[in-house]
Amino acid sequence: MDDQRLSMPIGEAMFTQRAIRRFRPDPIPMEDIRLILEAASKAPNGGNQQIARFLVVTDRAQIREFGRLYHQAWWAKRRDEHGWKGPEDIPAENRNYRSAMLLADEMGDAPCVIFALAMPPGAPYSVLPAVQNLMLAARALGIGSVPTTLHPEVMDRFNAMFGIPEVVSFHFCIPLGYPRGSFGPTSRRPTSETTYLDRWDAPVPWT
Ligand SMILES: Cc1cc2nc3c(=O)[nH]c(=O)nc-3n(C[C@H](O)[C@H](O)[C@H](O)COP(=O)(O)O)c2cc1C
Repeated sequence: MDDQRLSMPIGEAMFTQRAIRRFRPDPIPMEDIRLILEAASKAPNGGNQQIARFLVVTDRAQIREFGRLYHQAWWAKRRDEHGWKGPEDIPAENRNYRSAMLLADEMGDAPCVIFALAMPPGAPYSVLPAVQNLMLAARALGIGSVPTTLHPEVMDRFNAMFGIPEVVSFHFCIPLGYPRGSFGPTSRRPTSETTYLDRWDAPVPWT
């Protein structure tokens, strides 16, 4: 496996990674998809039981059909959370939701979608580190991604669409593609607010 191709310094990959939701249509070479999945497979997982499974979809017609399900799922989540029914309900200043809404419109155009799934018992803890490895490896290859979820309302149709057995758990839907447009840095709370030393609420020395 040509892991030397993931030569972006790890700090650069982590510090420049962010939710990419607008993609160019260019396909991702299958050897890059493989490298990304090889990186995912190296992640820690409970008892090394390796329950994570990945379903890679590059078929245009399937992605387009899935895009319709994703759109429905996204709006079902907004309806449950906020009672929002359409774009006019989303506050204009809420850029994160506005950008996520555009992804709901454009998911069907993504060049590749990877579903992170798991065999029983399906614990998410054994899948999440692999998903982060996957997205960092993609970042190192200049490929953008974002972890997204679905909604119970679409799960039966989702499983039927891809022939996924009922015992398999769904964790993430990750569209991948070369970023369209520019993207700036992430905005996060300072670690001095989110981190304690030795005891809950005790400050770290860099406060
Ligand atoms: C558990 C989880 C669920 C998420 N679900 C969605 C989603 O359904 N749709 C979406 O567009 N982004 C989703 N995201 C992406 C987050 O919105 C994104 O990571 C966050 O806003 C930070 O973005 P940034 O790294 O660009 O600052 C999800 C992220 C996580 C970790």
